[in-house]
Amino acid sequence: MCGIVGYVGPNDTVDALISGLRRLEYRGYDSAGIAVSTPEGSITTRKKAGKLARLEELLEVQPVEATNTGIGHTRWATHGGPTDVNAHPHLGDDGKLALIHNGIIENFAALREEAEAAGIALESETDTEVVAALLGHRVAQGEDLESAFRGLVPRLEGTFTLLAMHRDEPGKVVSARHNSPLVVGIGEGENFLGSDVAAFVSFTQRAVAVDEDNIAVITPEEVRISTFAGEPVEFEEFEVAWDAEAADKGGWSSFMAKEINDQPDAVANTIRGRLHDGQVEIPELTALGDEVLRNIDRIIIIACGTASYAGMTGTYAIEQWARVPVEVQLSHEFRYRDPVLTDRTLLISVSQSGETMDTLMAVKYAVERGVKTISVCNTQSATIPRESHAAVYTHAGPEVAVASTKAYVAQITALYLIGLHIARVRGTMSAEETQQAAHQLDELPEKFREAVATHEQVAQLAHWMADTRSVLFLGRHVGYPTALEGALKLKEIAYIHAEGFAAGELKHGPIALIDHGQPVFVIVPSPRTAPIMHSKVVSNIQEIRARGARVIAIVEVGDTSVLPYADDVIRLPLADALFEPLLQVVPLQWFALELSTAKGLDVDQPRNLAKSVTVE
Ligand code: F6R
Repeated sequence: MCGIVGYVGPNDTVDALISGLRRLEYRGYDSAGIAVSTPEGSITTRKKAGKLARLEELLEVQPVEATNTGIGHTRWATHGGPTDVNAHPHLGDDGKLALIHNGIIENFAALREEAEAAGIALESETDTEVVAALLGHRVAQGEDLESAFRGLVPRLEGTFTLLAMHRDEPGKVVSARHNSPLVVGIGEGENFLGSDVAAFVSFTQRAVAVDEDNIAVITPEEVRISTFAGEPVEFEEFEVAWDAEAADKGGWSSFMAKEINDQPDAVANTIRGRLHDGQVEIPELTALGDEVLRNIDRIIIIACGTASYAGMTGTYAIEQWARVPVEVQLSHEFRYRDPVLTDRTLLISVSQSGETMDTLMAVKYAVERGVKTISVCNTQSATIPRESHAAVYTHAGPEVAVASTKAYVAQITALYLIGLHIARVRGTMSAEETQQAAHQLDELPEKFREAVATHEQVAQLAHWMADTRSVLFLGRHVGYPTALEGALKLKEIAYIHAEGFAAGELKHGPIALIDHGQPVFVIVPSPRTAPIMHSKVVSNIQEIRARGARVIAIVEVGDTSVLPYADDVIRLPLADALFEPLLQVVPLQWFALELSTAKGLDVDQPRNLAKSVTVE
């Protein structure tokens, strides 16, 4: 939550900040603001409640002349509502210091009293302004910015990434992180800071991940990192695999539309280099040691939201292939239940951003208890993969739309690859089964292209259903998490009441919801590869149809069994049962997007949400 960017260098500072904020806006869009050094040697801020576009409008009418230093922020409100006053940056030292913050300062009430006792008047309701005030107070008493940081930061409780600049130290931004992300971008005679690499990917692809409880200082010529205590830290650069274009909308109407279309590539890139001669081998897992994978007697997948539905889908395949019990737990519930963990438990976290605080805390909890952890993540060098014993990256490319699409299918793909890798190590699959699964993986990208082509048909459906107030989704086995994901997408971006059910659960209560005209999407398993489940789902369709439901059936091409009972039929290419959910989710993504568009909503930035949930 909240995106932060910092810049020092000779180029257009405002452009560097706004371009960074544009790519980080998915992290929060309640307000945006920048602070820059000016030729007169002062600091000027511009900030505005609302999306980044409001700040850009403000900059049109009130442009700023900036020299070589600046910080920028896009906010997801926590302390204090989304107003101009509460927008970052906040000032200290009588306007000579500017500061931005991502996170929550939990001891802010005590710090606020301290600031007020020192005679500092505070304008906003934010926890951030208190930090700016106390930092400014230290500088006013003679400390330089870096030592003021070093003195104050260990006193802050909660989560934070802080960036600050001071009028008297032009060409320098000082930053610190604690349980919140921070990455440095290294340019030629210019340097950057960001919540993630998207902040500077259009300027440089050289990056450094700042570790927990470290302070990073950037000037145009230098990057220095040290611990809070002042010990210098040696750091390693990595090359950002995303290019700037990947984080642009291209010609698409929304990032979500682009990202749905990106799915064949997202899946192909996630498989690439991991499938050799019909066998899956994930080099990143070898670090764990085959012995660990041979000995596990239980796998726990932890994740939130869409990532948890990817996890649920993964449980069926991993269990079937690797013959080890797999369960999914929501990250935010995991550590409160005092989970039974042994040295034979393997924990797999699934997180697109790699920064979701609930998932990070669950991973740390497991690591502290000696459990081996694998991170499935889409963001290079994010905190969760760095805290885990092994990282299996999904190569979906940057996902900007708040509603996850391509990361979801890449997560399922990665979990399937992990399942096949573990099965190979444990010797639990026959050569024929292995070959069949590898063949299915190989063919996925092409089948995805056909699934993406359902767009036009689904768009028409959504057009007719624009006034719908409630939609239900039914699925069985791997179709169940797909139903949950279809419902979540609709709630999230079309603000429509939607629920996903396991089809078999219907008669145990939810069937009472079915009334005349109630739209129900039914995910129908393949009659070829899952004949028993298929006939059960067809019976479920008959039951709801008899009660007036409007049935939209998602079937494999050639399945005519539902024609007498379905109002609409969406056909997808043939795939084995375990691989069907990857394709079946695509029309559901399109449906949510089209319904959101029909209602005139912002598809990419739905209300109240942020993409990366870095508070618990
Ligand atoms: C929904 C969505 C969220 C995320 C969840 C976890 O479309 O994107 O439900 O899946 O917030 O986020 P990550 O994967 O970044 O941990």
